[in-house]
Amino acid sequence: MSQKIIIFDTTLRDGEQSPGASLNVMEKVEIAKQLEKLRVDVIEAGFPVSSPAQFEAVKRISGEVGIIVAALARAKEVDIKAAWDAIKEAQKKRIHTFSSTSDYHIIGKFAHERYGKNLEEKRATILKMSYDMVKYAKSLCEDVEFSAEDAGRTDLAYLAEVVEAAIEAGATTINIPDTTGYTVPFEFGEKIAELKRRVSNIDKAVISVHCHNDLGLAVANSIAGIENGARQVECTINGIGERAGNASLEEIVMALNVRKDLFKFSTGINTSEIYNTSRMVSGFTGIIVQPNKAVVGENAFAHESGIHQDGMLKNRETYEIMTPDSVGVNKTKIILGRHSGRHGLKARLIELGYTIDEKELNRVYERFTKLADKKKEVFDDDLRILMGDEVFTESTHYILDYMQVNSGTGSIPTATVRIKRNDKELSDSATGDGPVDALFNAIDRALGIESLIESYRVRSVTSGRQALGEVSVRIRSHAHSFTGRGVSTDIIEASAKAYLSAINQNEIYQLEAKTLNANEKITEAI
Ligand code: KIV
Ligand code: ZN
Repeated sequence: MSQKIIIFDTTLRDGEQSPGASLNVMEKVEIAKQLEKLRVDVIEAGFPVSSPAQFEAVKRISGEVGIIVAALARAKEVDIKAAWDAIKEAQKKRIHTFSSTSDYHIIGKFAHERYGKNLEEKRATILKMSYDMVKYAKSLCEDVEFSAEDAGRTDLAYLAEVVEAAIEAGATTINIPDTTGYTVPFEFGEKIAELKRRVSNIDKAVISVHCHNDLGLAVANSIAGIENGARQVECTINGIGERAGNASLEEIVMALNVRKDLFKFSTGINTSEIYNTSRMVSGFTGIIVQPNKAVVGENAFAHESGIHQDGMLKNRETYEIMTPDSVGVNKTKIILGRHSGRHGLKARLIELGYTIDEKELNRVYERFTKLADKKKEVFDDDLRILMGDEVFTESTHYILDYMQVNSGTGSIPTATVRIKRNDKELSDSATGDGPVDALFNAIDRALGIESLIESYRVRSVTSGRQALGEVSVRIRSHAHSFTGRGVSTDIIEASAKAYLSAINQNEIYQLEAKTLNANEKITEAI
């Protein structure tokens, strides 16, 4: 009999912490619904205290899905209260609270005045704080998870003490994160085994693992954790997350699945939804999946060399350990064309995992027909890109209304733009080093801003001359980066859209930050 591994998906929380990957509320709700279709057991929907938009997204997701919704909170009352307020209407809910336990974090993050004058005193304060805050969380919510941040580099004896206290206070899941991706599989597995030996009440909680990928070992470490007693694994779609990312959900699930002969563990994941989910997350976050990425990369099932192709034709298993079908990769990609109707489009979008109301359908259909006029065949990836592009643009955002760009050999590139926001029109012209530079300069002048471009990338979404071009632009503003995406069969137009989208995200963030500061002042005054 195989034992069930709980899949805790943190794409919407740790995954969203990937540089430049900010998702709006509607995109998060869409992804949450798709994660439910994928049959993950728990969705970590966000970190509610960190911004009003995070709070709103967790609250909205709580009202939309029937699986467990977890909200993250530092071991502080204000965080735990915000987490609870955001999830309390969910059918199934979990508060996930954490505090740091490694000496690196304790020395680096906790001030002498509040936490104690030396390491020993600080450790004692954190132990008590962890106990108290789990108890507080438990007074609000039956299902409480506690994480010992940087457990991978935490002294084992101290880690065991904190874990025991958290279980004593009521934690039902104990998460052991390798926050910095420092450990290697045999060492991490041994850490889990040793905790099982040392912590007297460990049988009252589920052990969870949460591994980062700084050394490319996140999946291997997670599996080592499972082999040594962990029964929950925290992971993200496409392995996105802080720095080098988190353990990839699809890799863990397929490793357990393909190697059933070795591992006596199973998950509840509907593997045929893996590819759709991967594409949706990539489309909404703008984080491209590397072509050779295991399980979901464009080349994961491509056989290039003659010897391989010949072997495959004779017997698929010569070079394939899982079928594309098993993860939802559909080889027949041609689907719609200019004669396809609204119903056909809607049905295909639903098959690809999107929920779409009539208003959205009208907008997508309009864009679809324009695209179908330019391209003979509209592929699934084109549709995904259409969904991730403009469906959720609000009239309060800057929208490209008109642009003209001139460039040529020996001439100075010039651009003119007209941008709309609500009923206001802003226009200007500028020159630049190339057509894109001229365009960005014209946008800057029209909006009266100057942005620092961190990266600019163009790629073709599908194949052929009329393929959609997808442009991704990352801008930097103070300590934060914002990525915008734009698509069009004209890559100059796609560039303008991408740049405006990044500017819009920065604006939304600045607005939220203002609201948050105002709220903090009000709390202080009380
Ligand atoms: O990596 C980490 O330690 C985390 C915790 C908050 C669980 O993301
Ligand atoms: Zn993490």
